[in-house]
Amino acid sequence: MAIRLKERFEKKFDEEIRFFKGMMQGPKTVGAIVPTSSVTAKRMASVIDVKSGLPVLELGPGTGVITKQILARGVPADKIVSVEYSEDFYRRLVEDYADVNFIHGDAFDLENTLGRFSDQTFDCVICAVPMLSFPMEARIRLLEDLLSRIPEGRPVVQITYGPVSPIIAKPDRYHIQHFDFVVRNIPPAQLWIYRKA
Ligand SMILES: C[S@@+](CC[C@H](N)C(=O)[O-])C[C@H]1O[C@@H](n2cnc3c(N)ncnc32)[C@H](O)[C@@H]1O
Repeated sequence: MAIRLKERFEKKFDEEIRFFKGMMQGPKTVGAIVPTSSVTAKRMASVIDVKSGLPVLELGPGTGVITKQILARGVPADKIVSVEYSEDFYRRLVEDYADVNFIHGDAFDLENTLGRFSDQTFDCVICAVPMLSFPMEARIRLLEDLLSRIPEGRPVVQITYGPVSPIIAKPDRYHIQHFDFVVRNIPPAQLWIYRKA
């Protein structure tokens, strides 16, 4: 029991150090100060419809906290496609989560980044990319690209730290729903859901 606790503590500490290093190298691309909490990650993964049998698209997995909760939700590892921009995070993710389809690339250029998955329909999208670091037009373009890759009615869930949706409303093109405010996150996180109009 004590050994398992020690291992868990060491793993968490290691995640935080890795995150801090990533943050120092690219504060704008990492966009947070510590990894997403497991409470937030679990809440984001809760939108997945495992019964659909479709793969899940994850963007910006970082240390893999959300990937872990997607797996815990019952999605088989080979049904997760996850795009990470940072090479350091990517290398570690591949080691830590065998069989997950990690892709080292840019979420804002999915047509090229997704490779053999570029024509794939996904169940939903779990997005932790720091939207606020990118211009609004790029955010809207990314959202609409994501919505075109999932069935109508299915969600794109986005984490952010500001008080308002990081993507402005376009009611004729997509719906925005405030999904949750998670206090057990540093800083407290806002979760938003977007669906095709
Ligand atoms: C706020 S962090 C979230 C990390 C993760 N939830 C965690 O707790 O470890 C944002 C992540 O998005 C990644 N990222 C930033 N820009 C990206 C892009 N254009 N494409 C893919 N990933 C990107 C960063 O490298 C980082 O891993």
